[in-house]
Amino acid sequence: MNAFDQPQNILVLGGRSDIAHAIVRQLASPALRSVVLAHRGGDTIELNGVDDSVAVQCVPFDATDRTAHAAFVDGIVAEHGDIDIVIQAFGQLGGPEVNTDPTAAGDLVDVNVAGAVSSGLAVAAQLRTQGHGVLVVLSSVAGVRTRPSNFVYGATKAGQDAFATGLGHALAGSGARVMTVRPGFVRSTMTEGLNEAPFSCDPGDVADAVVAGLRNRKSVVWAPGVLRYVFAVLRVVPGFVWRKLDS
Ligand SMILES: NC(=O)c1ccc[n+]([C@@H]2O[C@H](COP(=O)([O-])OP(=O)(O)OC[C@H]3O[C@@H](n4cnc5c(N)ncnc54)[C@H](OP(=O)(O)O)[C@@H]3O)[C@@H](O)[C@H]2O)c1
Repeated sequence: MNAFDQPQNILVLGGRSDIAHAIVRQLASPALRSVVLAHRGGDTIELNGVDDSVAVQCVPFDATDRTAHAAFVDGIVAEHGDIDIVIQAFGQLGGPEVNTDPTAAGDLVDVNVAGAVSSGLAVAAQLRTQGHGVLVVLSSVAGVRTRPSNFVYGATKAGQDAFATGLGHALAGSGARVMTVRPGFVRSTMTEGLNEAPFSCDPGDVADAVVAGLRNRKSVVWAPGVLRYVFAVLRVVPGFVWRKLDS
């Protein structure tokens, strides 16, 4: 057993995320004391599948409120003590307008990239001070090779992914670490009503991959795992093939 099999305190940034809820359910153990669901409203959210003895607290958090992120993390630690696992789960897909409207695209970047970098650095400072803990970053295969139909979203996930993997290297030797998660299409609130892509999966499948990755101290996890090999090919196919696959 290591600390990541039995975390005591978990913080979720983007506390309504379906994928994050599934991960927390998989991580629940008798050792789990508190789960903080940080989300824009801050109002109470039901977290199913977690024992009543676990303190579930909902607090306000906005990824775009960057100047508040350091104090936000300090406040969580003051109340709950060291954080074992932080799940960076917030994110927006954006509508078709993000591919053409500069303002909408900038807003998406604010959340998915600037918010990820700002909150990620605030968390990293705390984990470095503690000398332990892991930041789980929900990136996406969309950032591995950006598709014509959602290249702005893909660009934001590429930015978030590059930040997360770089931060992981920067933290080497500190006791703290980062695990970057690259899911494919996941059936969640974010993708409701969209056509499913090949290798689609459920939030529980991502959670299985995350928990296995934590146990094995992985720095990058793909969900489902086969996407690692699929994208090794897709990232190098000629542009005309890539465009055809996206049409
Ligand atoms: N679903 C997929 O196919 C898929 C695939 C690969 C990667 N991902 C990534 O996985 C993560 C979780 O996605 P999910 O599928 O679990 O979707 P989800 O259920 O829609 O969760 C995303 C959450 O992000 C929150 N959020 C949006 N803007 C925010 C802001 N400014 N500040 C704080 N929170 C904000 C939303 O909160 P509100 O309730 O306030 O709107 C929402 O609950 C995202 O980063 C997504 O990009 C998803």
